[in-house]
Amino acid sequence: MADAAPPEVVEVELVARPRLARILPEPAGPTPVATYSDAFPGPVIRMRQGQRLRARLVNGLDEHTSIHWHGLRLPNAEDGVPFLTQAPVPAGATHTYDFVPPDAGSFFFHPHCDTTRLLGRGLAGLLIVEESDGPRFDADLPCMVKDWHLEPDGRIGTVSTDRGAARAGTFGNVATVNGSIDPVIPVPAGGDIRIRLFNVDSSRILDPMLEGAEAWILAVDGIPMTPRRLDGWLAGPATRLDIVFRAPKTGTVRLVNAYASTPRPLAAFRAEGTPLSRGRFRPLPLPAAAIPAPDLARAETLRFDFSATAVARAFAEADLAGLPFADSLCLSEKTFWAINETPWPDAGHERLPPPLAVLERGRTYVLELANLTPHLHPIHLHGHSFLVLGSDKRSLPRHYADTVLLEPRERMRVAFVADNPGDWMLHCHIIEHQETGMMGFLRVA
Ligand code: C2O
Ligand code: CU
Repeated sequence: MADAAPPEVVEVELVARPRLARILPEPAGPTPVATYSDAFPGPVIRMRQGQRLRARLVNGLDEHTSIHWHGLRLPNAEDGVPFLTQAPVPAGATHTYDFVPPDAGSFFFHPHCDTTRLLGRGLAGLLIVEESDGPRFDADLPCMVKDWHLEPDGRIGTVSTDRGAARAGTFGNVATVNGSIDPVIPVPAGGDIRIRLFNVDSSRILDPMLEGAEAWILAVDGIPMTPRRLDGWLAGPATRLDIVFRAPKTGTVRLVNAYASTPRPLAAFRAEGTPLSRGRFRPLPLPAAAIPAPDLARAETLRFDFSATAVARAFAEADLAGLPFADSLCLSEKTFWAINETPWPDAGHERLPPPLAVLERGRTYVLELANLTPHLHPIHLHGHSFLVLGSDKRSLPRHYADTVLLEPRERMRVAFVADNPGDWMLHCHIIEHQETGMMGFLRVA
């Protein structure tokens, strides 16, 4: 029998460097951003399931960097965590990532060091892996949601404060979708519109609502689930939601963030063109992903407590004196947060701590994730999509995800087959929490 044809290769070059982008209208100046391409807010890589991605990173920043491919079940060496899975790519150097994404879905990529600052300047891109079959849509629109910390003149302001890092995160003051403030996005009138919502913000919680259309969630974190009405789904930093709605024949549908006392506008979709006649609106499921099913009867349970350090507790009482200092590009000088009472140690990624746990390859694990704090924490595991089993506070449908949002004092259980060998980060995706201690890694051996 002949070998199967090698997968087609999609080649991209990602030049990470400072650029200028217009975010605020004149008379403000352009904003000094950092991006992976001249396209603003960032490149959107589209490929089909089964194709191979070969992405060449050119580091035009003045610091070392790497690219983490968020949410992909990829080989550990391609995961892009400096010191843990690869050597950092020095300023001026290049590095090529090469892998076949196993699942279709909505993914994104970003650096994994100095991330608060770089993501604050916009360094992120989208990776869309299209299904080879499944329902057809009349439009497929990525919506990258991100807040910016901007001064009135367009410069980047303070992206992180100790107060923010020790609490819910430092919030931006200018909300954007695809780099624009409350953009109006044309959609085919009467059509079935798929939007891929990416929360790439470092701290903002979204409760996305569509006003003027019935909307359904088709996938969470890129992985399809039984379609479910979009009605109160909290999407923390790093979460992606694939949503379908039927565009009206005329007029607009508004996307708002209802996680606020008054819903905040994010974008509007305006019906354009001769209305399509598509029959009765029915959200069709996307083809299921081939993720190995956890064997719950034989699973081992591991418990992880997400807590504040004594420093953060002291800081909450507003005492700034005597904070412990360390020194690293990858880690803040301060330690506010911990996993199982252990903050990532002072010397940063260069001196790795032991893994939080060593997992036996092929075995099913249930992670019990307990939030012991009064803040929300979106907890992310690299290299796996886990099955969300449930929460002790709310009812959630069983679905796959790579990031779960823990509400204050909430405990959630997720399960996965540890089938991907390597060292995989487990951390909060409020990046300031991550960089001030709420990170660790699991070793699958
Ligand atoms: Cu977007 Cu370590 O993650
Ligand atoms: Cu957190």
